[in-house]
Amino acid sequence: MDFEVEIKENRYLSGRTWLLKFISPQLAKNSKGGNFLMIKTSESYDPMGRRAFAVADVRGDEVWIYYDVVGRGTKLLSQKKIGETLRVFGPLGKGLFSYEGKKHLLIGGGVGLAGLTLFGKELRDMDKEVVFVYGARSREFLSMKGWLEEEGFDFILFTDDGSEGRKGLVTEVLKDFGKEWKISACGPKAMLRALKKETEKTGHKLYLSLEERMACGWGVCLGCVVRTPSGSYKRVCYEGPVFEANGVLL
Ligand SMILES: Cc1cc2nc3c(=O)[nH]c(=O)nc-3n(C[C@H](O)[C@H](O)[C@H](O)COP(=O)(O)OP(=O)(O)OC[C@H]3O[C@@H](n4cnc5c(N)ncnc54)[C@H](O)[C@@H]3O)c2cc1C
Ligand code: FES
Repeated sequence: MDFEVEIKENRYLSGRTWLLKFISPQLAKNSKGGNFLMIKTSESYDPMGRRAFAVADVRGDEVWIYYDVVGRGTKLLSQKKIGETLRVFGPLGKGLFSYEGKKHLLIGGGVGLAGLTLFGKELRDMDKEVVFVYGARSREFLSMKGWLEEEGFDFILFTDDGSEGRKGLVTEVLKDFGKEWKISACGPKAMLRALKKETEKTGHKLYLSLEERMACGWGVCLGCVVRTPSGSYKRVCYEGPVFEANGVLL
């Protein structure tokens, strides 16, 4: 489960997002939509621990990760060069998305879209109808738009400032899609909370991929727990990262 992989590409896209591609036949073969990986970003203990990233795409033996540079770990990752190696643990996560239903609306906020893209390809391979909704604060932060275009998916863009796509919040899209559309979402917690609140009114079935901060990534440290309505706790890394929205408190 712990692999040393060779970097094939690691390049800046736009906003604060980078695209990392590495070779790993085993991870490429065994990763499913919703799975994530724990990547060691430094050879030393600074920063401690590994960082979690969604498996965004798989092409042959290549695994693709889209990541935002937000702190020391991701800064170090962005400095890695082609041909260098990385230690990668995974694929992780037992609770994955639901493939039930014919119509799927996949809603991603910022780099959260990376948590949905491989799942979207799986749904398409199963002949399901898939529409992506991709929101960000402004045009430059829609860094994965190229992936959606290249893959030929139908998609709707939103930006907070209206610099591209529709101006406003992704929640507005719900009124355009009937309850037969299953919704899967990944992104900032505020967006997930808003979607949960809205779908409680509209009656859409909603699945959320959570990105709590993680230390171990495999169920041991309890650093990533979320509360459930019954008062118990679930580990996002182990029982998740995907949960039915009414099964967790955000
Ligand atoms: C299951 C899972 C999948 C993820 N997938 C992706 C992905 O595909 N692409 C991607 O860019 N990021 C993803 N993340 C988030 C990513 O793990 C963090 O951004 C990364 O660990 C930050 O490391 P750092 O050392 O650069 O930042 P740190 O120095 O650790 O933190 C910098 C800042 O970011 C905040 N931060 C760190 N981690 C998180 C988090 N999980 N949620 C909210 N704020 C955080 C900190 O509070 C701090 O303000 C995922 C997280 C999880 C748990
Ligand atoms: S990150 Fe350690 S239990 Fe989830």
